[in-house]
Amino acid sequence: MKKWRCKVCGYIHEGEQPPDVCPVCGVGPEEFELVDSAPAPAKPKRWKCTVCDYIHEGDEPPEVCPVCGVGREMFVLLEDVVQQLTAASVQNSTEGTSRAALDKISYGLYVVSSIKAGKLNGQISNTVFQLTDPPLRIAVCLNKKNLTHEYISETGCFTVSVLGQEQFDMVRNFGYRSGRTADKFADVPYVAGKNGCPILCNCMAYLEGRVIPDKVLDVGTHHLFVADVTGGMVVDERAALTYEYFRSNKQKK
Ligand SMILES: Cc1cc2nc3c(=O)[nH]c(=O)nc-3n(C[C@H](O)[C@H](O)[C@H](O)COP(=O)(O)O)c2cc1C
Repeated sequence: MKKWRCKVCGYIHEGEQPPDVCPVCGVGPEEFELVDSAPAPAKPKRWKCTVCDYIHEGDEPPEVCPVCGVGREMFVLLEDVVQQLTAASVQNSTEGTSRAALDKISYGLYVVSSIKAGKLNGQISNTVFQLTDPPLRIAVCLNKKNLTHEYISETGCFTVSVLGQEQFDMVRNFGYRSGRTADKFADVPYVAGKNGCPILCNCMAYLEGRVIPDKVLDVGTHHLFVADVTGGMVVDERAALTYEYFRSNKQKK
């Protein structure tokens, strides 16, 4: 059955021909247009880079992530995330739905920095968190491939610079390239902490950490470093950058 829309009032008429008179606004058949009844095109699949969160739309994941350069095997299908919670639906959760749920855990974003033989380096991490108080202890989870991981494994020292909400440029500088190929501190003002590791001058707050040697947990691709807090300060009272805020706004900024 065809559908005709009145261009004046929006009334929808079903039939082979438009009506002689619109029953709502009274205009004639010449004011009706055929409503396209073709089904809406299928929504493209959405693939998420599990390294940098880049979203790609298409039937297949890209060969290479255009943001961080990893291969297609690092992409997962981002399934439609909002599902009805029922006894049956929980039995059908998948890796895709679980990853989407993981994105709902709240995190801050931090620059975790270290120094080795006079060389500075730092990386973005969302996995910095307080463990105990007292004693003041924190943990950070770092990928074994990262240069920052190498520095901290060898020296046991690091700093955490807490980023303010506007510091997207710092996420790009520290989070999407390795210190193996770039000097990330070349244009970033810093001061040295008591432990010698760099603290970003425009951070909101910072902490210094000393890794507790028997409290480094191997979690497969990453190590979880547990550290005593050996220094720290609030530098500026402003809104902190959260992972969720970064994720929602990174395409715009
Ligand atoms: C938003 C965001 C959060 C990240 N969180 C972590 C993290 O918690 N642990 C980690 O090992 N890498 C994390 N990364 C990735 C590293 O920052 C990235 O691989 C960095 O280039 C490593 O640099 P490096 O080799 O100089 O140490 C994150 C990246 C971004 C953009």
